[in-house]
Amino acid sequence: MIVAVDLVHFYGQERVIDGISLQIAPGEFVALTGESGSGKSTLLSILSTLLHPDSGHIFIDGQSMETLKDPNRFRREYIGFVFQFHYLIPYLNIRENVALAAPKRSGEEIMELLERLGIGAIAHKMADEVSGGQRQRAAIARAVANGPRILFADEPTGNLDSKNSEKVFDLFRKIADEGTTLVVATHDRRLAERADRIIEIKDGRLV
Ligand SMILES: Nc1ncnc2c1ncn2[C@@H]1O[C@H](COP(=O)(O)OP(=O)(O)O)[C@@H](O)[C@H]1O
Ligand SMILES: [Mg+2]
Repeated sequence: MIVAVDLVHFYGQERVIDGISLQIAPGEFVALTGESGSGKSTLLSILSTLLHPDSGHIFIDGQSMETLKDPNRFRREYIGFVFQFHYLIPYLNIRENVALAAPKRSGEEIMELLERLGIGAIAHKMADEVSGGQRQRAAIARAVANGPRILFADEPTGNLDSKNSEKVFDLFRKIADEGTTLVVATHDRRLAERADRIIEIKDGRLV
């Protein structure tokens, strides 16, 4: 459960996040929508503990993010991230890219994950030899390889055509149905409809 209470964040004089409170249930698939500049990325960064809000509070599974003893460990164990650009290593194949992020997983476990996410057949291909959509699915595999309870994605289809965007959202659906909480920022309203719930933001406030 993610609980955010009265989040406020400024960039300079601009109140980019302007008093947002929300709750996201375990296993829920939430799409965060809003126009460019509305504050989606900032809110996502705050919810995912990457950015400290100027004021307000975040609790994840009852733990206050302000009093975490070891934030890096918490992120490692709890949270996965996917960004608009995949940031895979071009000199490694897909399997190696995912394995690198999950040193405790065996080769077999990594292959099982890739199969489950529909990219087993390209496991041996170099990251720069596969399509943008396949790369993005590999980035998602990498993000979930450690079994995070929450997966955050910021415009994960921003760089993809509609067919590949659909595939990425199919994959999110599957990951959510397996019990992971998903918070996905997208300005694509049609894709957002596929989430369990849409949270819309405008000028840093919930609509
Ligand atoms: N690092 C930053 N420094 C200054 N202003 C920023 C920074 N990041 C975002 N902003 C501003 O905050 C507002 C919200 O941006 P952002 O959260 O990126 O919105 P979105 O993801 O919805 O496009 C915009 O006006 C943007 O220019
Ligand atoms: Mg953004």
